[in-house]
Order: sequence, then C-alpha cells, then structure tokens
Amino acid sequence: MIDTTRGSKSLHVPEMMDAWVIRENRHGSPLNALRKETIRVPAIGPTEVLLSVMAAGVNFNGVWACRGYPVPLSGLKTGYDFHIPGSDAAGIILQVGSGVERWTPGDEVIVTCNVSCHQCPACDGPSSLACEHQRIWGFETNWGSFAPIAKVQVQQLLPKPPRLSWEEAGSYGLCLFTAYRMLVTQGGLRAGENVLLWGAGGGLGVFAIQLCLLFGAHPICVVSSIEKANLCRRLGAELIIDRQRFDLTQQVGIREFGRELRHLTGGEDPDIVFEHVGQATFPTSVYVCKRFGRIVICGATTGYDLTFDVRHLWMRQKSIIGSHIANLYEADQANRLVIEGKIQPVLTHTLAFNQVPEAQALQEDRYHLGKIAVLIGAPESGMGRQI
Ligand SMILES: NC(=O)c1ccc[n+]([C@@H]2O[C@H](COP(=O)([O-])OP(=O)(O)OC[C@H]3O[C@@H](n4cnc5c(N)ncnc54)[C@H](OP(=O)(O)O)[C@@H]3O)[C@@H](O)[C@H]2O)c1
Repeated sequence: MIDTTRGSKSLHVPEMMDAWVIRENRHGSPLNALRKETIRVPAIGPTEVLLSVMAAGVNFNGVWACRGYPVPLSGLKTGYDFHIPGSDAAGIILQVGSGVERWTPGDEVIVTCNVSCHQCPACDGPSSLACEHQRIWGFETNWGSFAPIAKVQVQQLLPKPPRLSWEEAGSYGLCLFTAYRMLVTQGGLRAGENVLLWGAGGGLGVFAIQLCLLFGAHPICVVSSIEKANLCRRLGAELIIDRQRFDLTQQVGIREFGRELRHLTGGEDPDIVFEHVGQATFPTSVYVCKRFGRIVICGATTGYDLTFDVRHLWMRQKSIIGSHIANLYEADQANRLVIEGKIQPVLTHTLAFNQVPEAQALQEDRYHLGKIAVLIGAPESGMGRQI
C-alpha cells in the first residue's frame, strides 16, 4: 500500500533502525571503528529516496573511513557526529521525494555513489563530477549502505539487473563504474591496445580485465598469488605477471619487470597503465608505459606521496590522467553491460549483516579476490533473482 499523504510516495518506513556506524573517537581498524547503533531514519528532500538495502558492496573507501585517514569524520562536514559507511547497494525503493518522477516505491535498484548538487552550471554542463559539491556517497556523506535503510539522491539510481541476486547486484557498482571511466572515458581505450592492470585480481582489476577484453584490448594482469592469477585466467586474461618476483623498490627490479612485460607482449610496452596502488607501483608505471602512453590513476592504496623519475615522463611524452568514480551516463553505460550479461560481477565473499566489520577488515588485507558483499535486508544468499 503506497502512502502519498506527506507529499512523497512511500511504503512503510520505520522510525529507527540498527545501523553500522563509525564515530571519530574510535577511528582505526574496521573491527574497532564499526559498531552497531540504533539510529533515527532520516527524512528525505524532494529529489531524494529512501532505499531498503537488501545487500551492500564492500569497498576500500570503507577502510579509509574507519581509519579517519586522510580525512577524519569531522573533516567531512556532514553536520553529523556519526557516519554510516557503504558506497554500494542493491535494494527496493521505500519512499520517494515529491519531485521524483522516474521511480516508484517497490522498484528494484542499485546505486551509483556519485552525488552532487544538480543545480550548478557544472552539473548541467560538463559533468556532475566537476560540481563543487561532488562527493562519494557513503564515504563523504552519512547515510551509506551498511544500514537497513539508506538515503540516496534520485540520480544515483540505476535498474537492478534482474538476473542477479541481491548480493551480486550490490557488489559491483563503485568498482565497475570507476574502471569504466578510467579506461573508456579518461584512458580512451582502443581495440588492440595493451593495458597493464595493477591489482588485477582485486575489486577494480576484475572489471578492468573484462572491459579490456570487451573493447578488444589486451589486459596484462599483475597479481601476487596463484589464486588471483587463476581468477584472471577464468575472466579470459592470458598475460599474467607475479609482481612478487620483482623488487620494485629498486631500479634494477623495475627494469626486470619491464623486460618481463615486453617478453609477454612480444616486445610492446603498455599503451595504458591502470593505476590505483600509488607509491609502491607508480615509479614502475611511469617507466614501463609506452611512448605517448597514458597512466590513468584513481587511488593510492600504498601511499599518495609519489616519487618517480620524471625523465621517463617528459622524454617519452607520457600522460598522467586522474580519474574519480563516474558520472551517471558512464555508470549507466557500464550497468547496461551487466544487464546484457557482457560484464559479470565477481563476488567471492558474502557475509551476514552482523559481520560488516569482518567484511571491511577482509577488504583491508588485500588477500581477497574480486568483490566482497554483505547481506543487509536479504535473509540469505541467492535471493532477488527475477529470471
Ligand atoms: N577514485 C575512485 O573513484 C576509486 C574507486 C575505486 C577504488 N579506488 C581506490 O583504488 C584502490 C583499489 O581499490 P580496489 O577496490 O581494487 O581494492 P582491492 O580489491 O583491495 O584491490 C587492490 C589490489 O591492489 C594490489 N596491491 C596492494 N598492495 C600492492 C602493492 N604493494 N603493490 C602492487 N599491488 C598492490 C593487490 O593486488 P596484488 O597483491 O594481487 O598485486 C590488491 O588486489 C583503493 O585505494 C581504492 O580506495 C578509488
């Protein structure tokens, strides 16, 4: 029964909910930072939606949020002294604001985590990513997906792929959409190109592999375990490097790595380097990238103070390109690839609602493969498939 009495269409919305919450006085490891607390369900504005979260994806940004580093909770200036993290979700719309026309309570959706003001020239012009109020939902905003009910902006909504379970649907958005923008928009990926993928068996990597293959490019996968190498092969990659064979802190190790790369590709250097590791890999990325090639970077797991030999950059006219999440158009294009079955979620761990801190800790340790998800409202795995 849909209630329209308060100017917004709604299914039943409880007043309170138990949510996983970070507070500034316990910033640190996920096991300590995340606690379950009873929180009042927020009210929504005209262009917002309340979502009944069925499953949530786990991302590395939750690790940064727990650590309060590089930005502590107070630095986010959300107006709240608590933070419900979680930047990926699949669920059912509970309530829509009075200005929402394209979605109705009961619709099954996933979310993309890019939020902005949607009122400024940047939002109406070049990209919502250029908006001064651009934020990552659930990371730089409060009402993320590690709670039964989440508040989202209407333009964050995308249709849930009907063939996927709740946890599969909730697992891929942030990483797939980011990898799509990095490779397709910012990197200008073309058929036949060689693409060096750091962390190819991780969250971003498993989608970067699939996108490269879909666009007719050749992924060269860097991993640190046999399990990750096997995962890359299962996704269709053929060229794989075990980074542990090389000491990338030394120039000699970087050169050996470059020789191994050329050996694999038949003498070619990578046209694109897919970067998110930062300090530990950036000198190698700049060195091995092809003349006039592109190093596209969206993160710095190992540290963001980068030191590298800049001669390799200017003498060979390489470009370093920053990339951050994706705009709604890119997210929609990537989501269509999932709906059409051209890109698969790569979900390897599904944990229960009570295990959110453990799930976030699993993400932190870098040994996991692909993506991790948590069941929030879904009572068990495998539910939510329509076809
Ligand atoms: N700006 C954005 O929009 C955006 C979006 C998504 C993610 N990110 C950032 O991108 C980073 C990766 O995210 P993710 O979801 O892919 O994380 P993930 O699932 O933890 O995977 C990261 C991978 O990095 C590799 N790695 C870790 N330490 C390394 C080292 N010292 N040298 C080489 N490789 C190393 C690991 O692979 P191996 O050990 O197998 O080599 C690991 O599988 C995070 O910092 C995240 O915050 C940014």
